[in-house]
Amino acid sequence: MSRTLVHSFSISLDGFGTGEGLSADAPFGHAGHRMHTWMMATRFWHQLGVVDMGDASGSEGIDNAFAERHEHGVGAEIMGAGKFGPPGWQDDPDWRGWWGENPPFHTPTFVLTHRPRPPLEMEGGTTFHFLDASPAEALDVAREAAAGRDIRIGGGPTTVREFLAAGLVDHLHVVQVPILLGRGVRLWDGLEGLEQQYTVEAVSSPSGVTHLTFTR
Ligand SMILES: NC(=O)c1ccc[n+]([C@@H]2O[C@H](COP(=O)([O-])OP(=O)(O)OC[C@H]3O[C@@H](n4cnc5c(N)ncnc54)[C@H](OP(=O)(O)O)[C@@H]3O)[C@@H](O)[C@H]2O)c1
Repeated sequence: MSRTLVHSFSISLDGFGTGEGLSADAPFGHAGHRMHTWMMATRFWHQLGVVDMGDASGSEGIDNAFAERHEHGVGAEIMGAGKFGPPGWQDDPDWRGWWGENPPFHTPTFVLTHRPRPPLEMEGGTTFHFLDASPAEALDVAREAAAGRDIRIGGGPTTVREFLAAGLVDHLHVVQVPILLGRGVRLWDGLEGLEQQYTVEAVSSPSGVTHLTFTR
């Protein structure tokens, strides 16, 4: 049975999944890249080739073990409009996402938005489909496209929270980063008692982050 997964979703100690003041120059607003420093140090990230990391090969410890799960068994991704582009991207007909012509999804990728547009076929197997749909409806469409493989809910915090509130997430991997953002978009609002629906495990990494998994 195909599962619905959230992988490597980073939050600050005070529970924010992104900062304030998102823009084309600041995809995470005032948080900068502090939420993902742990991931950018891994071998997984270096091999992804999103940015040129020179000769360094990246760490191979626990952070890498979690990060590389991004690659396995996923047949479709669902993301929010806020992950796909900066505020206002819907007014730019040429916007094709942050990731260049070969985005690191390699599957059908469903972007939830109240302003859908025709699909965008990219290189490497990623096609962006734009959907105005409830989480349950979006999941049905993604499940069909995933052909038996898992569906990843890719973020941002508003979208992950929506799927958690609807009881649609089977496995949630949250990475608690030891920073205090103070402002931004929170993950946990309205989800009181969520942990009671899951088996929760935690493991801390020498990098300073804590990996929390919630498994149904
Ligand atoms: N912490 C992490 O690991 C992580 C991971 C991924 C992304 N991010 C960051 O998170 C930020 C974006 O998060 P966010 O919470 O602001 O936004 P988001 O969750 O990416 O997107 C929310 C938006 O998606 C659209 N949407 C969501 N559900 C919908 C539905 N059921 N039907 C139709 N449209 C729907 C709406 O946009 P419209 O009404 O405008 O169409 C809504 O405002 C970015 O900074 C991104 O870089 C962080």
